[in-house]
Amino acid sequence: MKYAIITGSSKGLGESIAKLFLESGVHVVGLSRSNNDYLSVIAKENNAIFKHIPCDLEKIESLEQVCEEVADIVFSEETNTIYLVNNAGVVEPVKQSMHIQANELKSHVHINTIAPMVLTNYFLDKATEKEIPLICAIVTSGAAESPMYGWSAYCTTKASMNMYTKTVALEQEELKTDHKIIAFSPGIMDTEMQKKIRSSTKSEFLQLETFQGYKENNLLKSTELVGGVLIDILVDTDINSGKIYNVKDYL
Ligand SMILES: NC(=O)c1ccc[n+]([C@@H]2O[C@H](COP(=O)([O-])OP(=O)(O)OC[C@H]3O[C@@H](n4cnc5c(N)ncnc54)[C@H](OP(=O)(O)O)[C@@H]3O)[C@@H](O)[C@H]2O)c1
Repeated sequence: MKYAIITGSSKGLGESIAKLFLESGVHVVGLSRSNNDYLSVIAKENNAIFKHIPCDLEKIESLEQVCEEVADIVFSEETNTIYLVNNAGVVEPVKQSMHIQANELKSHVHINTIAPMVLTNYFLDKATEKEIPLICAIVTSGAAESPMYGWSAYCTTKASMNMYTKTVALEQEELKTDHKIIAFSPGIMDTEMQKKIRSSTKSEFLQLETFQGYKENNLLKSTELVGGVLIDILVDTDINSGKIYNVKDYL
């Protein structure tokens, strides 16, 4: 029996990853603030389990309790593999760094950096104790490697997750565990996040017209297509732990 823990399963890429896992018979625990009834229907059709645990990843102080709740579900006698997909993310605040307030930064870093680290650290420890392999993905972005005017928070948190991925992979390799961790850059997709990007102003985000053009010219990929690539990578026994995978190498 396999379980996938997916953050940000309510919409966008996370919803598609959850759907595709359920369709392949993998049970899913979704973490997000809002639920997604459609995933319960998909689970039923595929004799799989979908459990939503309401969770605000900004609230770091409650994350340990959330982890324990998830662990009670996924670490069963029959479980032989656990996938953890740290997908939830926010792009805001989008503006020049000198106009960003401390509170905005705190919220952004909690969601994009601290929450995925807390979840990954917790499940690595627990999976080691239970002797079940953990296959972990962190959804990163091309912005981790290219500075973008107005995205200082986002570029920084995504870059930090790339380095976290490489560091954890190095540790797990030294420890000779079966756990694997990768980062995955999904390219530009047609989601709420892109809508938010297009609703910024040019003074906040210099590349606004380029991103508006991506939508107008149908260049945004579907989340199902991208989610399928990620799942193929995760279920591959030759997964290269520590690697920053990029969807453009597969599509
Ligand atoms: N879209 C793109 O073009 C693009 C490009 C590169 C990288 N990415 C990355 O891909 C990932 C998915 O992005 P997306 O485009 O699918 O985004 P999206 O459509 O905006 O969905 C974001 C997901 O994250 C969850 N989330 C946000 N804040 C949360 C919080 N405080 N607590 C719990 N969950 C929270 C949302 O759930 P709730 O609102 O229900 O809480 C939602 O399910 C992100 O890591 C993003 O950085 C996206």
